[in-house]
Amino acid sequence: MTLAATQPASVKRRAQALIIDDNVELAENLADILLGVDGFELDVHLAGSGQAARSFSEKLGDELDVALVDLRLPDANGLRLLTDLRRHATSAEFLVVTGDLSIESAVAAVGARVFAYVLKPFRPQELQGTLRNALEQVALRRSAERLRRELEQSEQRHREVVEVIPAFVLVLDQDHRITLWNPRLEATTGFSKQEMLGKSGADLVGDGGDRRLDLKDGGHRLVRWQCTELRNRDGMRVTYALGIDVTEEREMLRRTLQVERLATAGTLATGLAHEIRNPLNSANLQLQVLKRRIEKGQTEQELLIPVIGLIHDEIERLTHLVSEFLAFARPHRLAIERIALNDLIRGVIELVGPEASAVSVRIETNLDASVGMLDVEPNRIRQVLMNLVRNALEAMAGGGTLKIRTLPADTEGFVHIEVEDTGPGFPEDAPLFDAFYTTKPGGTGLGLAITHRIVSEHGGLIRAVPRSPGALFSIALPQHSKARV
Ligand SMILES: Nc1ncnc2c1ncn2[C@@H]1O[C@H](COP(=O)(O)OP(=O)(O)OP(=O)(O)O)[C@@H](O)[C@H]1O
Ligand SMILES: [Mg+2]
Repeated sequence: MTLAATQPASVKRRAQALIIDDNVELAENLADILLGVDGFELDVHLAGSGQAARSFSEKLGDELDVALVDLRLPDANGLRLLTDLRRHATSAEFLVVTGDLSIESAVAAVGARVFAYVLKPFRPQELQGTLRNALEQVALRRSAERLRRELEQSEQRHREVVEVIPAFVLVLDQDHRITLWNPRLEATTGFSKQEMLGKSGADLVGDGGDRRLDLKDGGHRLVRWQCTELRNRDGMRVTYALGIDVTEEREMLRRTLQVERLATAGTLATGLAHEIRNPLNSANLQLQVLKRRIEKGQTEQELLIPVIGLIHDEIERLTHLVSEFLAFARPHRLAIERIALNDLIRGVIELVGPEASAVSVRIETNLDASVGMLDVEPNRIRQVLMNLVRNALEAMAGGGTLKIRTLPADTEGFVHIEVEDTGPGFPEDAPLFDAFYTTKPGGTGLGLAITHRIVSEHGGLIRAVPRSPGALFSIALPQHSKARV
């Protein structure tokens, strides 16, 4: 017989209860009490015999939440019956209801792990309270079981992901021994899980980054690892390492760089050949002039010397070009010294003073006294300033003002030098720092390329800013050497 709950079901949890008693009156009485348990909507089933109880429990299976069992049934021993019922009702709690207060039955009930031992006569509220506790207990156990199953499923899912993921997955225990070696690692290295589990994996992944992964049949791959350290459920440190094969990527990068280097070398060589051809051509022409004059017997000094002078100038130009080119192309190890920047600049100004006066250029200096000492190779920085000042003077062939300023170290430790002129300036998109870019008939176009190279070698930066009119070259140099040598 089954009785349905009469209370509103809105906030109540549904549960299945079974009363096993051969005394129908008492069973119905119990059922009434059960229907009044707070917070639960109970379906109460009545079984008058051990046999009926077994078939109910088979039918309900693990759905059964609570059973009230009379220990004295006509066809069964109540405690033995419990063992049978538990086989199907794995989450249920059992309450023994009896009027027989014997030590033996109490001990037997405890042995059968019953939730409570209820002695007749009992007060309905007391029984309802005990039942409620039993039902809460079952609900808790069921949710714990559900969580355990979900955890198991999620662990299973994670295991499957690790199995199929197209990346290397490695797990190390706190002693850096390998506890997981995924199939991708097996396939790539040729080392099986059995061979690797328990071995030290510290060298394999390090702290992450690119590392060699040796293969069983010789050779290696380059793997980029990312490591994360976590604590597992037992509080032990576990390292999870995820790796991707970057062998091809690295090779591609190497080839690209090689191609780029070749292209740069090609551009430079083309530029150099072009620059060499002009002076060679004119020297050649002058040689032919010289030859013709000698053949015609025109050997007077005043006829020959000017031609020889022109040939000499062209050869000088070539020599200058070659040494400039070498200065640009040859890697240079800086010989850093600590110098007073303002003094070095004053020296340069003194040197170019006559050249400036010759083209009516006035030099204005604004050298900040707090600039102080700088770690540089003095000759190279002098060369930088000479190049900038010469360019400025060349730009102001008709006169003007050359301003040279220094600014003390900024918050990042960079000292600034500015060279500004009042010449015609340059187009915004002019590739001033490219080797061989020149707008001057006799120029090599290497001056600013060399300047840029030197400033970079010192760990500094150079900028060209068009002014209207004029041009401003601004250099930032680290006060303390960051030279890339
Ligand atoms: N102060 C300046 N004002 C205007 N244009 C400039 C200035 N400085 C450089 N340039 C432009 O940049 C070009 C490249 O300068 P760079 O010093 O590299 O070579 P160059 O002066 O032409 O030749 P070289 O330095 O061998 O005499 C110049 O030809 C010029 O067009
Ligand atoms: Mg120049």
